[in-house]
Amino acid sequence: MAPQTHIPTALEAAGDAVVLGADEVAGRFPLHANPSPASQAEYDAVMADLSFGRSFTDHMAHMTWTADQGWHDREVIPFAPLSLSPAAAVLHYAQAVFEGIKAYRHEDGSVWTFRPGYNAARINHSADRLAMPEIDREDFIASVVDYVRADARWVPGEPGSSLYLRPFMFASEPFLGVHSASAIDYYVIGSPSGPYFTGGFEAVSIWVSKGYHRAGPGGTGSAKAGGNYAASLLPQVEAGERGFSQVCFLDTYEEKYLEELGGMNVFVVMADGTVRTPELTGVILEGGTRSAILRMLRDQGVEVREEQIALADLIAGVESAAVAEVFACGTAAVVTPIGRLAGEGFDVTIPTGPVTEKAYNDLTDIQMGRVEDPYGWTYRIC
Ligand SMILES: Cc1ncc(COP(=O)(O)O)c(C=O)c1O
Repeated sequence: MAPQTHIPTALEAAGDAVVLGADEVAGRFPLHANPSPASQAEYDAVMADLSFGRSFTDHMAHMTWTADQGWHDREVIPFAPLSLSPAAAVLHYAQAVFEGIKAYRHEDGSVWTFRPGYNAARINHSADRLAMPEIDREDFIASVVDYVRADARWVPGEPGSSLYLRPFMFASEPFLGVHSASAIDYYVIGSPSGPYFTGGFEAVSIWVSKGYHRAGPGGTGSAKAGGNYAASLLPQVEAGERGFSQVCFLDTYEEKYLEELGGMNVFVVMADGTVRTPELTGVILEGGTRSAILRMLRDQGVEVREEQIALADLIAGVESAAVAEVFACGTAAVVTPIGRLAGEGFDVTIPTGPVTEKAYNDLTDIQMGRVEDPYGWTYRIC
């Protein structure tokens, strides 16, 4: 089958646009080196037992925005607690957005990231929705480059590991009026991380939530806004009490169609070989991993469909074996098979299969530099 045509979304177009190389943007965030970095013993302890998101490196990138000066005071400084007014708007009104991106160590020791232009475009999409200032794309990339170069020793090299990078910005203006803040702080911190799910490439179990939604039409679902995640926590806790590891949300109007998990997009592999994923409705987050997998599948001649997926059809498809595999994907968890899907009145098990595994291998082979990157997605940091 001929490769299918696809009109890139705004994020995809921005993500794949040529960006300046790391040497060209480096130095925009000058380093103020940490006078007391982690000792060798502390470093060894962290790197010998990689978890996800618990340990942090010696530095962080930072810049400040004020309405009168714009973005300024770019710097890489020691990782340390922040000093924030208790009246800072973010603490009250959740004016905050973030990104998730990784630095990978290739076998030759070099350090790379993946499609930083995509994340730059997405943080600006999120910032727009939250009435926050955009960041110059090259500044976003420079913040990642300068931070990672300062803390390159923290990029692990074991299979499945990476330095998980968390760029984020929030309203720091100390003012209790509800308005868009006139002072914003932006940071990049990083956490040396092993696999997101402790079971590695093992199937996860998903509870399909009814009654709770993380976002709705006209809301902030397509932004990576902290408040969306706050809304997902109670259903996540309740799913955990039932023995499930993640929640899948349904559309707000009818509770009929799949949207996404709390932190991942979802794919359905049909027994006839076609692959389906919920279409972008403005409510779900447009995942970079989702985009990359769709692109690779299309290029492999797989028929992919971005469309509404009714939960009832999915369950019936699993029961009749018309559905062969279901998986979730995102930067943190990469590609993870879904082995059990349950909700009120249903509980089905789903086999793990070759399409999920191939998507995982194809993506991580590019990210880890094990194969040539035909898309220009990989970006050398140092
Ligand atoms: C709600 C949500 N959906 C999907 C994703 C996947 O996005 P990406 O592949 O860009 O990490 C994430 C993670 O960032 C997420 O938080």
